[in-house]
Amino acid sequence: MKKLFVFVMVILLVGTFSVFAATITIGVLGKAAEAYWMQVNQGAQAAAKALGITVNFYAPQTEDIPGQISAFQGYVAQGMAGIAIAPSAPDAVVPYITKAISMGVPVVTIDTDAASGSGRYFYIGTDNYKAGYIGGQEMVKLLNGKGNVVIITGSLSANNSLERIQGFEDALKGTDIKVLTILNDQEDAAKAFSLVQSAISTYGNNLNAFYGVYYEDGPAEANALKSAGFQPGQIKVVCFDMGPDTLKYTQEGYIQAATVQKPYFMGYFAVMLLYDMAKIGPLGPQYVKMMENNTDVIDTGITVVTPNNLNDYIQWTKQLGIPSSY
Ligand code: BGC
Repeated sequence: MKKLFVFVMVILLVGTFSVFAATITIGVLGKAAEAYWMQVNQGAQAAAKALGITVNFYAPQTEDIPGQISAFQGYVAQGMAGIAIAPSAPDAVVPYITKAISMGVPVVTIDTDAASGSGRYFYIGTDNYKAGYIGGQEMVKLLNGKGNVVIITGSLSANNSLERIQGFEDALKGTDIKVLTILNDQEDAAKAFSLVQSAISTYGNNLNAFYGVYYEDGPAEANALKSAGFQPGQIKVVCFDMGPDTLKYTQEGYIQAATVQKPYFMGYFAVMLLYDMAKIGPLGPQYVKMMENNTDVIDTGITVVTPNNLNDYIQWTKQLGIPSSY
């Protein structure tokens, strides 16, 4: 009899728990279909698995400001328990973030922040100004303080891109390095490749280096240089992230340095925090305290990867169970 009672209680508890768990779905919204976002999603799904909840992930094919806003509205309409978003155009998305929060849906930003005043609870991602500055310092070393650089980016509205460019340019101050132009591929890898090709033909012998601001840019720069018959290192490349092609071109010597972000952890921590906020309420005392202390930013950090430490980096990602090729 006692055994039966325990058995019934266990069934009831498991039943209650799974009904509760089934009601928790968190929405994660990326910016583009680059493999970078697969790694964000992988971290988000790992957190979902650990918590026994569901995470829906969506990213538009390339930069798509209205598409991102309608996906955000869709998440709110579907009753998500929390939303993580990487705003392609922060100003455009702020009213929707503010509205979701007023409806009781906690929102955090990942990878790129929203304009201040959006009310988002946390930003989880890279310190983009600092990462851009570090990239600039690498460039100064590679060019011995003198030369011409073309910058390729995937957005001229997202905060992370603007902050990286600002940091990069600030690091060049006081040197003889000039930025010739800044070109926007709108997170389209094919467009990045053709922009690099046209920069090579426009600037020819005047060109000493490329800076790649987004995931797709370093490989596009290296690929176009290789295809145009340049030797590895003849024109320098400093870029962001570590996808399969970035890895290959670093091994081949076409890419000299990459500031590698931690997208897996952006997804992971976003889901963990949103789950906590959904359960205890976004104004749970610990969060208020953290915000009062001005720690509403979770800096996931970067690793500077060069041909010298590439193998250590690969080992580290293996330990985490993340393909280094992401
Ligand atoms: C950026 C993302 C961007 C991705 C793909 C990354 O470097 O942090 O904002 O969506 O590149 O373009």
